[in-house]
Amino acid sequence: MRGRKKKTWIPAGNRGNNGLTEMKKKSAYTVAVVGATGAVGTEMLSVLEERKFPVEEVRPLASSRSAGGDVSFRGEDVKVKLLTRDSFRGIDIALFSAGAAVSQEYAPVAVEAGAVVIDNSSAWRMDPQVPLVVPEVNPHDLETHQGIVANPNCSTIQMVVVLKPLHDHAVITRVVVSTYQSVSGTGKEAMDELAEQCRQLLGFGDVTPTVYPHQIAFNCLPHIDDFLSSGYTGEEMKMVNETRKILGDRSIGISATTVRVPVFVGHAESINVETKQKLSVEDTRAILSTAPGVQLYDDPSRKLYPLQIHAAGTDAVFVGRIREDDSIPKGLNLWVVADNLRKGAALNAIQIAEELVK
Ligand code: A2P
Repeated sequence: MRGRKKKTWIPAGNRGNNGLTEMKKKSAYTVAVVGATGAVGTEMLSVLEERKFPVEEVRPLASSRSAGGDVSFRGEDVKVKLLTRDSFRGIDIALFSAGAAVSQEYAPVAVEAGAVVIDNSSAWRMDPQVPLVVPEVNPHDLETHQGIVANPNCSTIQMVVVLKPLHDHAVITRVVVSTYQSVSGTGKEAMDELAEQCRQLLGFGDVTPTVYPHQIAFNCLPHIDDFLSSGYTGEEMKMVNETRKILGDRSIGISATTVRVPVFVGHAESINVETKQKLSVEDTRAILSTAPGVQLYDDPSRKLYPLQIHAAGTDAVFVGRIREDDSIPKGLNLWVVADNLRKGAALNAIQIAEELVK
């Protein structure tokens, strides 16, 4: 996701904690999905349905490009409505995934109308008033929400699900991560661009990149989000800052290189971890085998290691290629793969909603 934080979230003076925790419990909730026609929004509707989230009514919202069309929910066509400032009347929970600018403008409007916002964009993530939550890692942070809860960046989510149990056992001091991120993280236009470029190149034609600055088919781009004056990208700094906020530890050193790869769905990460206490491969396997949300998939002798094609469409964060880093006294190498649209976005958002209504 792109976009710059422009303002700080200041809830209206007397609202206090306007969360569902304070609302009357309901047997079912009215749920808005902002960006319901997008790659993540579509997945949000599927995950709500699959997990049988208690939905009384779903209100899909999008721009004029797709308002008036239909999305499918529980086997029925539901009309997509145009997002306006009046869209949130009667809404209990508003799931946002339409980019940072839309969230910046409309999340406060939704909260003002009485909804709790779960925002998948980068707009509010680093705001000190807004909890940034991965339910397996820091569900307690939800207690302080004041109307907006932020869903972390996709590459951060799958990393912290694995880092948290290791940090609890051995105290992580440093992380070096390189990512291999699929185009669905950019959105549906990027998925179309990859498919179209593959067709063009296999037909010996030329490609004209529009979503990405360079050809993405049969290529890797070491460039996700805008470049900062430091030389890092916005995506890389999201992994640094969001990880520290979610783990509640600003002392962890983190260095990230984020790379877009020609994969439709699923992000992979090569993660090097340095710890205060030594963790053997066996220790690490034992810790991760019981960690919530994690699935070990690590048997190189049988050529078994996590792959994006297997993670796509599933809920777990898969970990394999667990090795000690022999170049330092207390270090590990891990290969971590998850579906960026599900655990990296829609599933995590709906898990937050489940925590809020619990
Ligand atoms: P639309 O289909 O009308 O363009 P993706 O991340 O896959 O590109 O999807 C982005 C989602 O956000 C889409 O559902 C898109 O709707 C929606 N969206 C983008 N800009 C706006 C906007 N200004 N107002 C409402 N919805 C928006």
